[in-house]
Amino acid sequence: MAICFALVAIVAGSVLFHLLSPWRVTPIASNWREMDDTLAITFLTTAIFFVGINLLVAYMVARFRHRPGSRADYHPENKKLEGWLIVATSVAIIGLLAPGLLVYAKYVRAPAQALQLEVLGQQWQWRYRFPGASGKLGRSDTSLVSAANPFGLDPRDPAAQDNVLVNNNEVHLPLDRPVKVLLRSHDVLHDFYVPQFRARMNMVPGMVTSFWFTPTKTGRYEVLCAQLCGVGHFNMRGIVVVEEEAKFQAWLKQQPTFALAMAAQSPQQPAAGPGATLQAKGQSLAQSKGCVACHSVDGSAGAGPSWKGLYGKQETLADGSVVAADEDYLRKSIREPSAQIVKGYPPIMPKMELSDDEVAALLAYIEAMKAPAAAPQQTQK
Ligand code: CUA
Repeated sequence: MAICFALVAIVAGSVLFHLLSPWRVTPIASNWREMDDTLAITFLTTAIFFVGINLLVAYMVARFRHRPGSRADYHPENKKLEGWLIVATSVAIIGLLAPGLLVYAKYVRAPAQALQLEVLGQQWQWRYRFPGASGKLGRSDTSLVSAANPFGLDPRDPAAQDNVLVNNNEVHLPLDRPVKVLLRSHDVLHDFYVPQFRARMNMVPGMVTSFWFTPTKTGRYEVLCAQLCGVGHFNMRGIVVVEEEAKFQAWLKQQPTFALAMAAQSPQQPAAGPGATLQAKGQSLAQSKGCVACHSVDGSAGAGPSWKGLYGKQETLADGSVVAADEDYLRKSIREPSAQIVKGYPPIMPKMELSDDEVAALLAYIEAMKAPAAAPQQTQK
């Protein structure tokens, strides 16, 4: 009988937990109410079976428990019962599958007038691209990816020239306008996921995947990578800002086109700003490019050496040699991460497409965290 009470307690506990639990889905901010409805149908269907089956087992255990002298009857077949079971399970399985398939069919068919947004994933950062006035996204290829061309666009394609590039992890979108999201990955499997939009899709290297949605509420939403993509996965986050059309247009105008970004890469670019600005740029790059996922800035342990007190420090490398972590060493470590690995760390840092400016900013930021100079040459006279 104890098992019977335990089963009833599990059923009652589960139902109460569902009704009283504070964990609810985050408020929806897109057109995909149907995603929530589908989830509710799945939940209700599985709940009916869970409660029904467990209570039936509890009843059977109580009703047909062993009594001295009693014998079990043997009924090899019951056509009527089998018929009912086939009908009930078929209805339930159709109920679980059909709504999802119907919503998915709509989810991947974007309205013709939708705004195009390309999302580019890379360990462990996000980039975004919009078509320019021509309304076309130019050709891209992973083989064209370089520090000067992190999106890998084809400079010979006229359609690529006016494409608007967002070379950081924050993108803006206009309110109440359908957006067709096209997804690419430079390296491994990632997944673009914004919980409030009830929308996500895998980003598969070598192909372009897509879905669409209409943002229905202004606000700032966090983008999460939803595929385990390496040690920095937890930190692969971005931001989507949904705002009124006019504000969005103003923001879009501030973003460089591909042609402009290529021109800015020419050697005679303006000199870097004062140290403090460069440092601040380095700090924001460390966040947006995902460096901080592995390199702490407070001295705590991570998948890579902490940046606190790193600048100028003597480091022992995997081959036993000792180097000073000076500017040259750090620059080389950013450009060629696997060339000189510090002893005790795995060679897992991905190669990043960073411009010389960006590397200089990161170096300034790392330098700012160097250990305070120990009273120099005290012991040597
Ligand atoms: Cu990218 Cu997880």
